[in-house]
Amino acid sequence: MSTVYNSIIDRKKLEKISKYYSLLPDLGSETNDQIINKKLEYHNKNDISYNIFSPLFTEILGEHDLDVGAYKESSNPYPIHTDSASHHEYWNDRITRRGGEEKHNMALLVPLVEGPEFKTVVFDAYSEEFFKEPDPKILIDDNGLDPDEFRHCQQCVTRLPLEISYEWKLGDILTWDRNQLHASADFARHGLIKKFLIFFML
Ligand SMILES: [Fe+2]
Repeated sequence: MSTVYNSIIDRKKLEKISKYYSLLPDLGSETNDQIINKKLEYHNKNDISYNIFSPLFTEILGEHDLDVGAYKESSNPYPIHTDSASHHEYWNDRITRRGGEEKHNMALLVPLVEGPEFKTVVFDAYSEEFFKEPDPKILIDDNGLDPDEFRHCQQCVTRLPLEISYEWKLGDILTWDRNQLHASADFARHGLIKKFLIFFML
């Protein structure tokens, strides 16, 4: 299930974190050269991300462990996909190494830009695959999304049951289940770049 936590992050702390990541080097991406990726060390208790977000994430999730996370700048909107990792071999490894079971399997998004062009839509549809055509039985006639904002997405984008259409606002946190289908609106057609932090929690 997806949830928006409005105005939960102090603006001054958000400015501090934006500045911190703007100065870090880009690690690049193996899969997409239009994405700037920077190291996020939430597992390190001395790290700025842990200091700022640990109390908030504890409020949202209770006890939690980071699986992976990153600072990203993207000039390419994501089509419909899940963030599921359970089909990757490394998943079981990670769980074993951490000596426990996955408790949350959640994604937490922290927008570092805001405006009506930046939207994340989350559907009431789940899959362990990155993307698989959904069962036609779950599709509806029209979920109300504007097709012009989602031309980069698969055709089912206006027919999947919509759970949340979230417009990015500084200070908010959006969460969803990692195996939940979601997509980005096409901010790139406005010549914009999207900046955000993403945390995947065990
Ligand atoms: Fe995602």
